[in-house]
Amino acid sequence: PVQPRHPMHVDLLSVKELPESYVWPPHELEGNPSSGNIDGESVPVIDLDDPNALKLIGHACRTWGVFQITNHRIPQKLIDEVECASRNLFSLPSQQKLAVSRSPDGASGYGVVPISRYFSKQMWSEGFTIAGSPMEHACRLWPHDPHTFCDAVEEYKKEMRGLAVRLLWLLLGSLGVVEEDINWVAGKNNKGGLGECPNEVDVSDAIQLNYYPACPDPERTMGLAPHTDSTVLTIVHQGDVSGLQVLREGDCWRTVPPLAGALVVNVGDLFHILSNGLYRSTTHRVVVNKTSHRLSVNYFYGPPNSVEISPLKKLTSPARPPKYRPVTSNEYRAIKVHHPSKALSRVQICE
Ligand code: SIN
Ligand code: FE2
Repeated sequence: PVQPRHPMHVDLLSVKELPESYVWPPHELEGNPSSGNIDGESVPVIDLDDPNALKLIGHACRTWGVFQITNHRIPQKLIDEVECASRNLFSLPSQQKLAVSRSPDGASGYGVVPISRYFSKQMWSEGFTIAGSPMEHACRLWPHDPHTFCDAVEEYKKEMRGLAVRLLWLLLGSLGVVEEDINWVAGKNNKGGLGECPNEVDVSDAIQLNYYPACPDPERTMGLAPHTDSTVLTIVHQGDVSGLQVLREGDCWRTVPPLAGALVVNVGDLFHILSNGLYRSTTHRVVVNKTSHRLSVNYFYGPPNSVEISPLKKLTSPARPPKYRPVTSNEYRAIKVHHPSKALSRVQICE
């Protein structure tokens, strides 16, 4: 059922007892919060400078749908600046944050995390979405110095965009797909290929800052409910507090351990479609804990909203017909609001 978007009305930092609206039914909290990778396999960590990176990425996308990357060339100083800017934002008094609330149909601003609209229970987190320039919001939050926040976020977004394009070509390359098969990724002058980054790209992207305050009763709530991302790719910087978990098919929840300097890459639903289901978008969630606040900086990368995404011709054949019908990201998100865990099957072509 589609719920009205919950207003962010509770100051989580001051709550001493978990309000009823945040208590999740036990069966939806399965494995929460202590399951981890005490043993068994863990999410692959791939060094982008490894000569075998393409192969390793292909394997990670087929089996996990998520991996961590090192040697990604995003300056650590920039990551630290964005992290610091985000901490400054979330540590502002509630009233100030509420003054820059995301409007019900708005793309940017402070509020509950965007996936909240799919769930009836509240999540133990707060978010700040930046779709275009953060200037307007920053001017209201820090009238005397909006630039520290804006400059860090803008620069981070620019760097992430380059990395996302590079990663996209790596994922496509690992499937044997070359640049002419996909036209929306980059401007005409960009040949794609490994390591090349366009100056201008025709994409829709956004930064999502998430904050998960320490919780008085973490075993009964969720930081972020299980979901897949409606993006092509998501790049996550998680601070040094763990909480992100991924679900392996037929397996249990595995923690994605925070690794200094590494970034987490999630295959999104739209890449799942592009790859005709060869690479999977993986269900993930965030659990919270009693003692530490957790912060993450998420970069969502997708095509322009009205571009149709469909399985790439190179990956389909009479023996392997397209499994999904063409869909724009606008339409896909609309489907997802109504069918959060079944959106992919709603665009699947039935035999
Ligand atoms: C998300 O899945 O959208 C957020 C992940 C995180 O906070 O680590
Ligand atoms: Fe996500």
